[in-house]
Amino acid sequence: MPRPVQGRGGRQETEAARAFVHVLADSSDKLSSVCSILERNFAVAGERLDAQAKLSQVPFAVVIRADLRDVNNIAAIKKRAAKLAKAQKRIFLVEYSSHVSVSQAYALGATLVLPGTVDRIKLLAALTDPAAPAAASSSTRPQPDNAVETAATAIASMFTAVTLGEPLDVDGTKEAGRKIADRIGEHGLSEWLTTVRRHHEGTYQHCLLVTGVAIDFGLSLGVRRTDLERLYSAAMFHDIGKAQIPLAILDKPGRLDANERAMIETHPAAGYAFLKDREKISPEILDAVRHHHEYLDGSGYPDGLCGESINDIVRILTISDIFAALIEHRHYKPTMPRREAYNILCGMTGKLEKALVIAFKQVALTR
Ligand SMILES: [Fe+2]
Ligand SMILES: [Fe+2]
Repeated sequence: MPRPVQGRGGRQETEAARAFVHVLADSSDKLSSVCSILERNFAVAGERLDAQAKLSQVPFAVVIRADLRDVNNIAAIKKRAAKLAKAQKRIFLVEYSSHVSVSQAYALGATLVLPGTVDRIKLLAALTDPAAPAAASSSTRPQPDNAVETAATAIASMFTAVTLGEPLDVDGTKEAGRKIADRIGEHGLSEWLTTVRRHHEGTYQHCLLVTGVAIDFGLSLGVRRTDLERLYSAAMFHDIGKAQIPLAILDKPGRLDANERAMIETHPAAGYAFLKDREKISPEILDAVRHHHEYLDGSGYPDGLCGESINDIVRILTISDIFAALIEHRHYKPTMPRREAYNILCGMTGKLEKALVIAFKQVALTR
């Protein structure tokens, strides 16, 4: 390796029309297994991570399958960082399905991480996903986005810190929230939703979407700068308790069973317990982390709070959280239109503050 571009039939005119995917792996076996999945649909070039990179063409996607616990693999990927950044999609197939490996992949620039054993259907779906932009010429290809990648990396690092019991970068996480606020102030919410859904999936995408929606909701309500900071900080941290839940449950396609649901519902209290003695974590963040699944009618969890005991920032965050969860992009199901998601919020009578749901309409539908 490296080996030349290959494809079914090998005819020049056919190759020209097929999107070019570059596969990197840390062993020949892994390389051929990934290439064999892709060769039917794409022009594929495979390369071992320990080889010298000699690609003449910029791929529309890079697929990397490697053990990210190995420092040599990490170094080899970092060495190729500038080249990898030019690909629209950077899909990491992470063998060890843990927050640590997944966050390592995001830190290395992944736009999507597929943990566990290689799933042919998932991989092909991720590459042919209509939510992602079509292969473009190098002059029009979008560059990696700073605010999105900074924020995704901050969220991934936060999950890793919890998992490993390491110090939490509170300032870095808030700073990432500020970048999102600047970005949305400049380009609006719709652009943020599109960019995030194109680059990320699952729990990380969710946190990025909630933060963006909460910021735009705050901006539309005309909250003060200090309240906006409270809001985006709370949003960045709100699901930190999910770090203790296996990704297989968090990102499971389809319905959760009763035990899985019960496990998910431990995350607000777990997040609160994790943050409560940390420096620089304000009471508003703690309140939001613990209570973002409470409803005004007392039917939420973990404390069954009612009405006045749920404060304004939490009410705003809860609406943003539900809306963001509904409009998440998952490769295995169609994305729910924003109007449909807003109608679901409107149907949650008694649970959410009516005046806020009405005020949320322009965020949900037009901004
Ligand atoms: Fe949550
Ligand atoms: Fe959430």
